[in-house]
Amino acid sequence: MSGPLLPGATIGVLGSGQLGRMLALAARRMGYKVHVLSPDTDSPAGRISNREWASPYEDLETARNFARSVDAVTFEFENIPPETVEELSSIVPVRPGLRALTTTQNRLREKEFLRGAGFPVAPFRAVPDRASLDTAIEAVGVPAVLKTAGFGYDGKGQTRISTPEDADAAWNGLAGEAVLEAWVDFEAELSVVATRGLDGSFAHYGAVRNTHDRHILDLTVAPAGIPAEVEDEAVSTTLGIFEELEIVGTSCVEFFLTGGGKLLVNEVAPRPHNSGHWTIEGAATSQFEQQLRAVCGLPLGDTHRPEPAAMANLLGDLWARGEPDWPAALAVPGASLHLYGKKEPRPGRKMGHITTRARTPEEATRRATEARESLTGS
Ligand SMILES: Nc1ncnc2c1ncn2[C@@H]1O[C@H](COP(=O)(O)OP(=O)(O)O)[C@@H](O)[C@H]1O
Ligand SMILES: [Mg+2]
Repeated sequence: MSGPLLPGATIGVLGSGQLGRMLALAARRMGYKVHVLSPDTDSPAGRISNREWASPYEDLETARNFARSVDAVTFEFENIPPETVEELSSIVPVRPGLRALTTTQNRLREKEFLRGAGFPVAPFRAVPDRASLDTAIEAVGVPAVLKTAGFGYDGKGQTRISTPEDADAAWNGLAGEAVLEAWVDFEAELSVVATRGLDGSFAHYGAVRNTHDRHILDLTVAPAGIPAEVEDEAVSTTLGIFEELEIVGTSCVEFFLTGGGKLLVNEVAPRPHNSGHWTIEGAATSQFEQQLRAVCGLPLGDTHRPEPAAMANLLGDLWARGEPDWPAALAVPGASLHLYGKKEPRPGRKMGHITTRARTPEEATRRATEARESLTGS
């Protein structure tokens, strides 16, 4: 290692969506150059990068040329073929590395890792074929949820099983290997977004509270408003997972909080997370700047949150009756608007978000919700 990567260096980002865009914005503000690689052109991240490489992730020749043009590589999307990451790693530092990526990009591998390392998870069984679904249902019980092992996000590839008779329909709606997981009757969903530096330093934003709509994140509120012991446990579990996975960068651990005050790990995202978007306005250093600092081998920034914050996602559904009323949302005190520059506002597609800060979490939530509702006059 030859010291940290300083401003002027070029950061390579795999993936070109909104997470890469906000990372690129943070990087360019600090004087770094950004190259993105994804199969897309004119992408949310590509449009504000110095160079957009458009090629399938499987194209190793392009991956090598990309690696030679940058000083370090990180990702904003975890479904990158391990062969590509290995190839990149032989040319340039990739942070977080292969271990974090391969463990988290497959739900079964991720859950087996978590259970094996002693982190609390909901009961689950591997479901490699139709026959094993019946035995898995017997073992796990109903209700349960069947999830594809690979390539799932925003609730895609998930089917709830309420009775054993649902098995056929659930299996037929699936492509390939799956995991059956017990349904968790949670009291709240929490997440911890945190960053681990190259030197093993660790900084976090505490636990935040997430609510989902149709399995898609709808609202994040910081702080979560949970007892200090529960928050401490969520943070120490997060640190433990980051260390086991040797994460360097910003990542997120999602939790279910059950009625008895017990935490279960739901999943790990080895990249900045939607539930950390509020840190752009709501914390001294954003999750994206932290990612950059970690990837560059720089000291991590201050994660202090001056006051409560809330973040409301803006999905494509808001465009159903034409262009949303932006001035109305911006008239809400303290509302900050983020739009990702996606061309097609499809239903369920994350198009942007609104962040608000206020003296209490309730007030921040009320303003974020009000700003979003005012977009459609509802
Ligand atoms: N076992 C479960 N019990 C209850 N709700 C669940 C369960 N698994 C998933 N969900 C709900 O679906 C959401 C998305 O599921 P998750 O496993 O996090 O997949 P994704 O990769 O799509 O984010 C969760 O945040 C939660 O609201
Ligand atoms: Mg999730």
